[in-house]
Amino acid sequence: MSLPKAELHLHIEGTLEPELAFALAARNGVTLPYADTEELREAYRFDDLQSFLNLYYELMAVLRTEADFADLADAYLARAAAQGVRHAEIFFDPQAHIVRGVPMGTVVEGLWRALGRSEETHGVSTRLIMCFLRDESAESAMETLEAAKPHLDRITGIGLDSAEVGHPPVKFRAVYEAAAALGLRRVAHAGEEGPPAYITEALDILGVERVDHGLRCMEDPELVERLVRERVPLTLCPLSNVRLRAVDVLTEHPLPAMMDAGLLCTVNSDDPAYFGGYAGDNFDAVREALGLDQERLRELARNSFEASFLDDDEDRRTRYLAEVEAYEFD
Ligand code: ADE
Ligand code: ZN
Repeated sequence: MSLPKAELHLHIEGTLEPELAFALAARNGVTLPYADTEELREAYRFDDLQSFLNLYYELMAVLRTEADFADLADAYLARAAAQGVRHAEIFFDPQAHIVRGVPMGTVVEGLWRALGRSEETHGVSTRLIMCFLRDESAESAMETLEAAKPHLDRITGIGLDSAEVGHPPVKFRAVYEAAAALGLRRVAHAGEEGPPAYITEALDILGVERVDHGLRCMEDPELVERLVRERVPLTLCPLSNVRLRAVDVLTEHPLPAMMDAGLLCTVNSDDPAYFGGYAGDNFDAVREALGLDQERLRELARNSFEASFLDDDEDRRTRYLAEVEAYEFD
């Protein structure tokens, strides 16, 4: 058995494994510019966020029908469950599909086919978070929110992702205000490649409740103090940080220093098909590379449930937290 945990930073499109990509390509008559899964895996060498995003968006061409999105989510949930994930708050990127002629309804209802039965099939509770692409316009984000309105019973919150530098949070002030008025929870990627000031903006202007990544807060001691004081959760993704070169090597990851500083850290997988591991793999990697002891790992697991959007189901949160406390490491 694995340590029970919640996954709070997971792009469903980033769970597309090469085998499934080729299977969906065949099903949909899409030709990928790679001979086979081996050649595709060769392309998984990234210099930075943009070099990853190029491949990430390219492979989305195979996702066309509700069944495709359902199969993608089912495959993720099965893998996550096997690594101790009990609750998953899942990002999706509707603009990347709508631009290819795949409507919002196909994406959301397809994902929901898997998510809606996930407790029975995988023993994993779920939430769905719709992300806006920050390198697209603010108008496009607002149109996307509009397109999501018939599906809001499926969507818990909004997020902000894609190329960070040059696309500060303030650009999305209006759409975050509109989403808040609709009762949606708010998160945003900030401080992955972008400066600490983007984290402050995400808090002050977008009103986010969690910061995705937030790694670069460590460059600004006053910001760290604030994040500690306000207990703002950070959804860290250690294997992603190494693959996208936000940190040089895992042994130099600031996670232990961040926990020592009192930050509310969680460990997540981001885009596991691309970065070498799912949630449990990230936990294993930081345990080994950073020498985290059992109580530190338990703290990360506890944090993940405390930072989750389970406010509408506190009994469940309490049960999950009890599972964390009862867990016996081998
Ligand atoms: N989209 C998918 N993964 C992402 C990441 N790590 N940062 C920004 N946008 C993303
Ligand atoms: Zn991410």
